Amino acid sequence: MQNRNRSNPLSLFRSAACRVGCLVVLGLLVLSGADCPSFSPVPVATEGPFNNTTDNTNDGASFIGAAACGSCHSDYFSVHSLHAHAHALTPILGQPPVFPSAATRAGVPNPPAGFSWNDASYVIGGYTKRARFLDLAGFIVTNGTSGVDSQWNLDFPANGTTAGFAAYETAQATPLAFDFDMLQVYTTGPMMQDPAAPLSQENRVGIQGEFVEAGVQCEACHGPGSKHPPAPGPRTLFVDSQGTQTCNACHSVPYGSADATISVSDGYIVPQSQHQELLASGGHSSFSCTFCHDPHASVTYDRSNAIRNACTACHSDMNMALHEGKTLTRGDYTETLSCESCHMPFSVRDGSSATAAVVGAVGRMGDTRSHIFRINTENADFTTMFSDDMMSVRLDDEGRAAATIDFVCFRCHNGIGAFSIQADLAADIANNMHAIPSTP
Ligand code: HEC
Ligand code: HEC
Ligand code: HEC
Ligand code: HEC
Ligand code: HEC
Ligand code: HEC
Ligand code: HEC
Repeated sequence: MQNRNRSNPLSLFRSAACRVGCLVVLGLLVLSGADCPSFSPVPVATEGPFNNTTDNTNDGASFIGAAACGSCHSDYFSVHSLHAHAHALTPILGQPPVFPSAATRAGVPNPPAGFSWNDASYVIGGYTKRARFLDLAGFIVTNGTSGVDSQWNLDFPANGTTAGFAAYETAQATPLAFDFDMLQVYTTGPMMQDPAAPLSQENRVGIQGEFVEAGVQCEACHGPGSKHPPAPGPRTLFVDSQGTQTCNACHSVPYGSADATISVSDGYIVPQSQHQELLASGGHSSFSCTFCHDPHASVTYDRSNAIRNACTACHSDMNMALHEGKTLTRGDYTETLSCESCHMPFSVRDGSSATAAVVGAVGRMGDTRSHIFRINTENADFTTMFSDDMMSVRLDDEGRAAATIDFVCFRCHNGIGAFSIQADLAADIANNMHAIPSTP
């Protein structure tokens, strides 16, 4: 092994490195600091032809549907069409759902055993991680009620998952409703049920409310558009130039929660918790999603358009922490190391997680990247990342969380992907990681 420069401790590194001061003015990042490298991330659009940043009903307009928007905004429409938002919920008409061919891993070949496509009304997802099925009455098919594996996991080479059915809600004794929280996350124009005269979408009683369009379409974020297209003149669509309010509602658990608690289930963070994860990220806690994300482009299938500011747009002074040019190879799966490889570990599980055959006995890996960014360099045991009851992520006095080394390093360093490292040595190296000089 190379010479590890122990005389270059983190404290020295820290005092030499700049602590970037971050001032957010109308979505424009102004960063300053005496020794700071200058950097200018792509600014978020703060002005444009739009004139409505407050009223998301657009003066009581009605919904016209994404296809109508697409007739003028074909550019936005085609980018959005590849995003998981467009396919969050798909109506089933006796046939499997059809997805764009560019979405190479998407697709659900069959409904659960014993069901035909004529027994399904909708598929939830099936586009990036997993699919679940609504029966004709609008209830979500579970193992508990159907007796068969009722979640379809997509191929996910990163954690070694090959497509197939898996158990979903085995303990569910009664039909599981598609409740209003889900309706708000997976549809456009959701309407709550009136308890006096409850209406369900297409009279499917398992769907607790109605909606205008399945999936997260244009008007889910921009509000109803009927008063927008008419001719030139002042336009009246809602545009959330900060991104915060639009994204946070659906990407926090429970729906719309302002609570900082990051929920955990079976030793993994639950999906759609990005708002809470970001709150616990220390340096990024006040960021809105659109600082980094283009709201219209898919991370999974359109990566280069999806991320408008890469890590190095802001952290231009950071190196690759000994992993410059390194590539993980495990069977057919390869991954060129990036900042995200360590700082956005897969500590979230949507559909699947890696088995010990893939990540070894100590490695840990769900199927969704976390937005906590911070790394706990002392601990290799994931249970210390979570509360004693394993129901939430542990936060420090400043409300910050950090991923443990089993999530960060051992999903690769397990003797199956890359060489294995003892926990205490890994902690030792991690603690000093960016300051250790790399050898060619
Ligand atoms: C008849 C054509 C037409 C249709 C249909 C249309 N738009 Fe527009 N939209 C425009 C034009 C023209 C602009 C001005 C943009 C420009 O100058 O590039 C605009 C601007 C916008 C803006 C900027 C904000 C604003 O209010 O100016 C947004 C957001 C937007 N459109 C979204 C939508 C959505 C969502 C739909 C569907 C509900 C839609 N548009 C339907 C023509 C249309
Ligand atoms: C997930 C939420 C979301 C969805 C879905 C969405 N948008 Fe947007 N859109 C935004 C946000 C937020 C902005 C604000 C600017 C930014 O951060 O890029 C924006 C900006 C725009 C703009 C540019 C406004 C300007 O002048 O800067 C247009 C036009 C637009 N959207 C059209 C559409 C159309 C058409 C669709 C559907 C095909 C759509 N959007 C779907 C969130 C969304
Ligand atoms: C109405 C609810 C809703 C809103 C608003 C919303 N999202 Fe989402 N988002 C979802 C759902 C549901 C999924 C997961 C769909 C699936 O894969 O099943 C998702 C998935 C995503 C993905 C993964 C997409 C892919 O194709 O890989 C990104 C990135 C994302 N959202 C970012 C955002 C950002 C940024 C905003 C705000 C501009 C936003 N979302 C607003 C519901 C929403
Ligand atoms: C500091 C930058 C940054 C911020 C802020 C940020 N993201 Fe991300 N996000 C990323 C990057 C980079 C990726 C892609 C990682 C990769 O290459 O797979 C990503 C991936 C995602 C994914 C897909 C994760 C997966 O593994 O399937 C979702 C969903 C998502 N972001 C939603 C959000 C939402 C919602 C917000 C705001 C609450 C947000 N992000 C804020 C940088 C950011
Ligand atoms: C828009 C600019 C921007 C982008 C993009 C960005 N960061 Fe940051 N990051 C910051 C700022 C500002 C801070 C706070 C700096 C400080 O406290 O010294 C920070 C802090 C951090 C921290 C320290 C968090 C803590 O409080 O302990 C980590 C780790 C980090 N960023 C990693 C990343 C990674 C990895 C990416 C890419 C996925 C990324 N950042 C993208 C601006 C950015
Ligand atoms: C091989 C894993 C790994 C990679 C790759 C990696 N980092 Fe780190 N990073 C760490 C570890 C471990 C720490 C905590 C120890 C430390 O501060 O050196 C850290 C700390 C940081 C910090 C906080 C430093 C501070 O002073 O608080 C920032 C910011 C950061 N990394 C950004 C990045 C960026 C940007 C990239 C990509 C250019 C990157 N990292 C690539 C492992 C990694
Ligand atoms: C995405 C997979 C991945 C992650 C995450 C990762 N590594 Fe690595 N690491 C590699 C690969 C691949 C190599 C090169 C292996 C080889 O050359 O045989 C490597 C090499 C190393 C080396 C030797 C570097 C050199 O210059 O020879 C050390 C030390 C190391 N990793 C420690 C860590 C630690 C500690 C962490 C967590 C903070 C970590 N790695 C995270 C894949 C990873």
